[in-house]
Amino acid sequence: MLRLETDRLVITGFTPEMARAVHENSLDEDNRRFVPDEVFETEAEALETIGFLMSRYESEEGPLVYPVLLKDGTVIGHVQAALIGEGTWEIGYHIGSRYTGRGYATEAVAAFLPAVMGRLGIRQISGICVQENAASRKVMEKSGFHLEYEGIGDYQGERRPVCRYIFSSTKGEDGKDTPIRMGSIPGLDQPVSRIFFGTASPPVSTDEGAAPDLLDSVLASGINTFDSARSYGRAENALGKWMESRKNRDRVTVLSKCGDVRNGKVLVNRQVITEQLSQSLDALRTDHIDIYLMHRHDPNTPAEEIIDTLNEFREAGKITVFGVSNWTHRQIEEANRYAASHGLQGFSVSSPNYGLTRQMADPYGGDCVTVSGPENREAREWYAASRMPVVAYSSLGRGFFSGRFRAGDYETARRVLDIYAQKGYLYEENMRRLKRAEKLAEEKHLSVSEIAMRYVFSSPMNLFAVVSTASPERMRMNIRAAAHPLSSEEVRYLEED
Ligand SMILES: NC(=O)c1ccc[n+]([C@@H]2O[C@H](COP(=O)([O-])OP(=O)(O)OC[C@H]3O[C@@H](n4cnc5c(N)ncnc54)[C@H](OP(=O)(O)O)[C@@H]3O)[C@@H](O)[C@H]2O)c1
Repeated sequence: MLRLETDRLVITGFTPEMARAVHENSLDEDNRRFVPDEVFETEAEALETIGFLMSRYESEEGPLVYPVLLKDGTVIGHVQAALIGEGTWEIGYHIGSRYTGRGYATEAVAAFLPAVMGRLGIRQISGICVQENAASRKVMEKSGFHLEYEGIGDYQGERRPVCRYIFSSTKGEDGKDTPIRMGSIPGLDQPVSRIFFGTASPPVSTDEGAAPDLLDSVLASGINTFDSARSYGRAENALGKWMESRKNRDRVTVLSKCGDVRNGKVLVNRQVITEQLSQSLDALRTDHIDIYLMHRHDPNTPAEEIIDTLNEFREAGKITVFGVSNWTHRQIEEANRYAASHGLQGFSVSSPNYGLTRQMADPYGGDCVTVSGPENREAREWYAASRMPVVAYSSLGRGFFSGRFRAGDYETARRVLDIYAQKGYLYEENMRRLKRAEKLAEEKHLSVSEIAMRYVFSSPMNLFAVVSTASPERMRMNIRAAAHPLSSEEVRYLEED
């Protein structure tokens, strides 16, 4: 029989003596509103249900429902897992209204999740609540669920505005945490995680209070490389303060970028590099940047000027390796030819956009470069052959493949995606890809974001992916997905444009 103890709670099997408390707790106003079929008008009704639930404890189909007790034995609610489709389980819980507001629900759900998932041998479980149930949404999010869908859906036999959540275990088939895949970048001594943490969004870009904790959890998950830029708000400052306070600079690989788009014109030249590198080093509170990239290609600056300048800073120890972002492979080739013929170091890293989402228009200005989609096959082949590390940015399409809207639902998509993502990715071509990803996700019992992340890491390129998320749990999902590439058949299916 299941028995879990947390700081304040016990979760175990029902006994008939609990019928009165179950009846009383079920009469809450919230229960009537949100889960009317869990209201027991009489103690006898509760007793009958308890009998049924006790008979299900050994079954493979559930429902598995367990009372939540205070340490003194008071029954305050229950947690449950119910089978809602083939291989798909859904979590549920209720805490009596007189015990709410004290964090019991989150404590119970967080303890119950790994236990019940272990008991059922599943690695993913869903959760649903009506949109207006703010308390339930909070519990889901605090327990490590991520929002998969928000919109009209089936709920207790009715079509209502709902939020659907997914919780994924970070454990692999062997019960151990999936280790992050590591790679190497020529010229850098330290191994580099295949997933880079993107710092262009809050709380890191805004340097808010939550930033250090998030960065701690990212580093603890095995991600040791952080993608930043002079133009990412206060991201470099947040990173710098964090590295200084944690004294972990030697365990962190820092990528930063220089070069602006000013009034629609790209400006990357010796002067910009000199000024911005110095500002970045100050903000990052460090004496060197491990990977330094030119954020855009400036058609008015000869590649020679850039290569010469970067070699000088490298000689001076201020940067270790350098490369480009949003340059075409042809532009890289030309610059590297110059470097090779003058005995200089060339670009050794490139960061274009890449992912299952096709970048249909330039999201940010300054001629952003993507290697996604059928039209960029040649570029991908060039990278695959050259083995140049590709640091794929917006690898989840800036949230297009977060699973927060369904294929074809433009209205929700416009609410979920920011203006850059809408400009770059919100097109019919990508909705078709999303539809296929949804189908594959259903077949494989995965989320859409996991399919998209697996797709990225199925590429024959020497791939590293930059991903941003404010949630450590979602980052662990990405780490796990990165370890499981798709088959070539599945990749072909997703790419059927
Ligand atoms: N070089 C360049 O020109 C360039 C351009 C753009 C971006 N970048 C870099 O790339 C980084 C990432 O790019 P991005 O933020 O545009 O796009 P992204 O990483 O493709 O997408 C981020 C979005 O996906 C969500 N997400 C992440 N993991 C998820 C998961 N497991 N399940 C569901 N949703 C998930 C995040 O939401 P939550 O936060 O709510 O989890 C966020 O909305 C940036 O921070 C920046 O460092 C570079």
